[in-house]
Amino acid sequence: MFVFSEEDEKQIEKILNRYPEEQKRSALLPLLTLVQRREKHVSADAMRDIGRRLDLSPAYVQSVCSFYTMYSATPVGKYLILFCINISCQLNGCDELLAHTAKKLNIEIGGTTEDMKFTLHREECLAACSGAPMMRINDTFYENLTSDRIDQILGSLD
Ligand code: FES
Repeated sequence: MFVFSEEDEKQIEKILNRYPEEQKRSALLPLLTLVQRREKHVSADAMRDIGRRLDLSPAYVQSVCSFYTMYSATPVGKYLILFCINISCQLNGCDELLAHTAKKLNIEIGGTTEDMKFTLHREECLAACSGAPMMRINDTFYENLTSDRIDQILGSLD
C-alpha cells in the first residue's frame, strides 16, 4: 500500500479542488507528477492509490504513466536527463552530444549512475527546437548545447 505524507495529502486536496467532481480524472497527471517528484518513480502501489482516488482502473493509470516519459515505473536518479533526439536537435548534433553525455556519466543511454544521481533518457521533441540541441534536466531546459556546456552543467549539479 502506498502512503502519502501529510504534506502530500494537503497538496492532493489542493489539486483535486481544481477540478469539478465529475472531472476529477483531470487530476491524474498532477498526481503522477507529485509522486514522481517525491519518489523518483511511480510504483504499482502508487498507481493503484491514485486510480482509487480518481475512480480510474489501475490499467488506465498505468497506460497514462507509461505513455509519458517524465514518469517512470522504476526509480530514476536525482536528475533525470531527457535528451532530445528529434529532427532539429538531430540536425544540430544531438547524437554525438548524447553519446558524450553517456560517456561522461559512464552509463548506457537509459541507465542510471550507481550513486542514483543521474538517469539519461532519449526524448522526442521538447518544443524548444530553436535552442537545438537541447536537453531537459528535471524541470530545467538547457539549450544550444555543446560538449563543454554539458560538462559544465553536469558539474554544477549537486
Ligand atoms: S527537435 Fe529537439 S526540441 Fe524540438
